[in-house]
Order: sequence, then C-alpha cells, then structure tokens
Amino acid sequence: MQPGRAPLLTFNVLTLFPELFGPFVDGSIMGRARRNGLIGFQAVQIRDFATDRHHTVDDSPFGGGEGMVLRPDVLHSAWTSVDAPDSRAKGEQLTVYLSPQGRALDANLAKRLAGFPRLILVCGHYEGVDERFVESCVDLEVSIGDYVLTGGELPAQVLMDAVSRWVPGVVGKERSVAGDSLEGGLLKYPQYTKPREYLGRAVPDVLLSGNHAEIARWRQEQRERRTEARRPDLWTAYGAPRKGGA
Ligand SMILES: C[S@@+](CC[C@H](N)C(=O)[O-])C[C@H]1O[C@@H](n2cnc3c(N)ncnc32)[C@H](O)[C@@H]1O
Repeated sequence: MQPGRAPLLTFNVLTLFPELFGPFVDGSIMGRARRNGLIGFQAVQIRDFATDRHHTVDDSPFGGGEGMVLRPDVLHSAWTSVDAPDSRAKGEQLTVYLSPQGRALDANLAKRLAGFPRLILVCGHYEGVDERFVESCVDLEVSIGDYVLTGGELPAQVLMDAVSRWVPGVVGKERSVAGDSLEGGLLKYPQYTKPREYLGRAVPDVLLSGNHAEIARWRQEQRERRTEARRPDLWTAYGAPRKGGA
C-alpha cells in the first residue's frame, strides 16, 4: 500500500457510543488493515450535533408508547457531516441503518457492500430512529439476525468485519476467504492440527497420508456431509437431491 493513497473502503459510523469501537478497530485484522491503509474508519458522535444546551438527541414517540426515539434533525446533521453528495451520485457511497427490520446480512450482501468505497453506518439506540431520517437518508436497512439488541454498535461491528474480509488484502495472503464456510454453497470441512492424538482422538489418517488427491476428495465429502447434516437449507440450494438422482 502506498502512503497517502485513499483506503479501499472507509466506514463512517454514526453512533452515541464511539468508545465501543476502540478495541475492535484497533485490534487484530481490522487494526492491521487500518495501519496498512486498506480500511478507513471514522466514528461520528451523534450527540455533537444536538443544538440545545442539554445536548438532547432523542424524545418520546408521538402517539405514545415506550422509550425514546432518536430525533431526525440531529441524525440528519450528523449524517450531513460525512455525506459526500458527489460520491453518492456516482454510487460510491451507501448509507446503511443497522436495524432488526432490515435485510438479513449474509455472505452475498457482505461481498456486495465491500465494493463500495464508503459506507455510512447508522447505529440506533433506545426505541430506534425517527422514520423520516430513514426515508430521507438511508439506502439500506440491514439486520444481523432475528433478535433485538439494545443498540446498533455490535451490529455495525459485525457488518464491518464481514465486509472488510472481502476487501482485497485485508485477510492477507496466508489464507483465502474463498475457502471458508458458505463459499460455493457448502460449509467448510473439519480441521486438525498438532498433536496427532488428543484425548484419545486421532487425526484422520488421510490427512497424514501426503496424498493430495485423496485429501481433496475427503475434504469435499466432509463438506457435503456437514452441510447436509447441519444446514438442510444450504444443502437443498446446492442441488444435492438432484445429485442423488432424486
Ligand atoms: C432496541 S433496538 C430498536 C428496535 C425497534 N424498536 C424495533 O422494534 O424495530 C435499538 C437499536 O439497536 C439496533 N439493533 C437491534 N437489533 C438489531 C439487529 N438484529 N440487527 C441490526 N441492528 C439491530 C438498531 O440500530 C436499533 O435502532
């Protein structure tokens, strides 16, 4: 990576809790990708855009009900501080609101999002965000699963991790993301390392044979068996019943 070159993908994260991103963006593979200039990250404190002296970011919902809703005007100002209209017009920027009501994050979506030079991630809190902000600024709502979390910070980190792995150079030469579970529609085969025997369980002989064709055959068989046993949905999509002549 040449110094001074723009990162391949920059995350601008709108949040009330920027401190929750520290260890995640500084550590491990994400930290290395940032130091290498492959990934950019900027947390935007939504509260900085409140206009009253109490720095109010939310209020009770019109019509009554539980909890507090993030105000659209404050969110809009925070969003405007990072929005790049030119990039947006060229399709080089996408605003994603992490929401349990969104499209489920999966490998295909992660790969697609990795193609954007810039992702603005909006983390909700409390009861969520005013719908008018979603309508006017958000391109895509993304859910990380069918459960409700208290805030969008963990979902944003899950998305950032899943997406960054598909940015060239982030995972590194030592391994290929293309061989991981779900690629090619199957789960990955079981893996073993030293010692050769552990708690009375030996590493399968074939992996010690040195016969690469046999190893490849065994691994493919294991991928298919695992997928059939653990993920019937994937197995069906893989076309397994047709393979058996059914
Ligand atoms: C308590 S939730 C709000 C849920 C909202 N009242 C509803 O029922 O749809 C607070 C915030 O957490 C985030 N969040 C919660 N669960 C999520 C999920 N499964 N995927 C993505 N974001 C989630 C969203 O940013 C949301 O605005």
